[in-house]
Amino acid sequence: MLKTHECGKINLGIAGEKVLLAGWVHRRRDHGGLIFVDLRDRWGVVQLVADPDKTPEAHAALDPIRAEWVIQVEGVVRKRPAEMVNPDLATGEVEVEVHQVKVLNPAKTPPFTINKEDDVDESVRLKYRYLDLRRERMRVNLELRHRVVKFIRDYLDAAGFLEVETPILFKTTPEGARDYLVPSRVHPGMVYALPQSPQQLKQLLMVAGIEKYFQIARCFRDEDLRGDRQPEFTQLDIEMSWVEREDVMALMEDMYTQMIAALVPEKQILHVPWPRIRYPEALERFGKDNPDIRFGLELVDVTDLAATSGFQVFADTAASGGHVRGINAKGLGGYSRKQIDELTEYAKTFGAKGLAYLAISPEGEERSSFAKFLPVAVLAEIKARMQAEANDLLLFVADKPAVVFDALGRLRVHLGERLGLCDPNVLGFCWVIDFPFAFWNEEERRWDPSQHLFTSPMLEDISLMDSEPGKMRGTQYDMVVNNNEVAGGSIRIHDRELQSRIFNLIGLDENVARERFGHMLEAFEYGAPPHGGIASGIDRLVMILAGEDSIREVIAFPKNQAARDIMADAPSLADPAQFKELHVRVDLPKT
Ligand code: AMO
Ligand code: AMP
Repeated sequence: MLKTHECGKINLGIAGEKVLLAGWVHRRRDHGGLIFVDLRDRWGVVQLVADPDKTPEAHAALDPIRAEWVIQVEGVVRKRPAEMVNPDLATGEVEVEVHQVKVLNPAKTPPFTINKEDDVDESVRLKYRYLDLRRERMRVNLELRHRVVKFIRDYLDAAGFLEVETPILFKTTPEGARDYLVPSRVHPGMVYALPQSPQQLKQLLMVAGIEKYFQIARCFRDEDLRGDRQPEFTQLDIEMSWVEREDVMALMEDMYTQMIAALVPEKQILHVPWPRIRYPEALERFGKDNPDIRFGLELVDVTDLAATSGFQVFADTAASGGHVRGINAKGLGGYSRKQIDELTEYAKTFGAKGLAYLAISPEGEERSSFAKFLPVAVLAEIKARMQAEANDLLLFVADKPAVVFDALGRLRVHLGERLGLCDPNVLGFCWVIDFPFAFWNEEERRWDPSQHLFTSPMLEDISLMDSEPGKMRGTQYDMVVNNNEVAGGSIRIHDRELQSRIFNLIGLDENVARERFGHMLEAFEYGAPPHGGIASGIDRLVMILAGEDSIREVIAFPKNQAARDIMADAPSLADPAQFKELHVRVDLPKT
């Protein structure tokens, strides 16, 4: 080895010992004669010191070096003088007196500083990702990710799970996004699809008798990207035989609770056991199925009162089957018209046509965009229902239920952030259950499964399939923390007959179903055990545990928002000969 010790681990215990170190020059300071260098490796930095009188050669060798040069030094560990001790640094009590220096590789000046957490444009960080990853923040995030995955592997191994790899070149395994396709050279005109998840394969492993499966699985989805979505991402994928919904939820809850205590003890889980929130309740209270339960500001239904209000917008909406709901933004009663207009614009970006308000100043004076249209008694009842007090700001949206929930649900989160109610050290874990089995897709005029094709309806609801499919509940469960869906799963169909009926319900033609999923249907005829499972987004989980806002911060080499790797420049043009070999002809859009 070119080094005997890790820089970040040098300590008083080895004072007086000779060490050979190698790493990057983190910082170099010339203090009137003495040269100090912070030498960095993955474990941290240690201070080197060269004295021109004692070790003139080493001192001269350190003179030309600059940040990020790669050097090797030989020296002796010594205690720092008391006034030089740096309590903020793990190696702050020691330094290394350098006797010999060897430059292993000089470095160009990096496009951004590595030794400071400056704000650097993300495109520059991604282009030079190998430099960005040298920075402390990214190193800490990658370490946390490693620990999370190791914790999962150890926990599940102890619980009798088997990690099984499943193919990347496979057939469509839809989860609601577009597939990435890989043309086959040896089978002209045919393609593999990259799995959107190992869903079918893990179910087939249950048919195969594995009983307890897991995998740290790569998934591929061609969909619009956001801060919490990447075209390829990692799931902790789990499947178990003989389980009911509560068994899977209990396993995940215990594993993640223990993981958080072990890896991020500074974070508090808000409620233990984690609350189970029914889907309709999640919408009613939070406007969304991935609620942030760390704070109140819950939605309040005033549709019945609005119907009698005399305010046209409210009354018409109520009369046409829409909803009128509001939020009491506590403490914002002093908001100016301009500030309320900002909130209105925000709500409008999610489809709201407006945001009716009633502001009560700290002194109790009221300003409102609609109160004058309301009978005094109705207004009083609305205020009572919303527990309005001085210094409150009541905000209302009247619209179709979906728009009301979406606009107010997002406004609620926005207000929570504005009001500083989202403590990153509090983890508001909850389970959302009792989703509708399917949603009516008005455009396509068909039922879409609310999870995926293989989720079972609640057994007691199956009798509704022919008469009122919209009323069937699914066995799906989503794990949510602080406004993020971090896992989702369900109890599966293991009965061929039921699977065929579901394909039929969602309008999947029998021939298409057989062609795409014939292997599943066939497998169910050979003794498939009852089974269920879940998959958890590792990137999202680590993002939250690391206190980051984007999953790109916890992925070594992520794609940018346009699904490009701007470091390696991928995707890139293919050699025409490669396309020819693949029997692919390119037909580019005209620009
Ligand atoms: P689902 O589609 O809900 O379920 O995915 C499970 C979890 O994966 C994460 N996730 C993503 N993370 C980053 N980028 C993406 N594009 C992305 N898409 C999803 C989310 C999500 O909760 N086979 C089923 C699971 C099952 O039924 O067992 C599935 O994939 O955190
Ligand atoms: P207008 O009659 O358009 O001047 O609107 C009066 C008030 O009602 C304004 O504060 C609007 O923002 C609000 N408003 C308009 N449409 C809606 C709606 N669909 N839901 C809630 N508030 C609305």
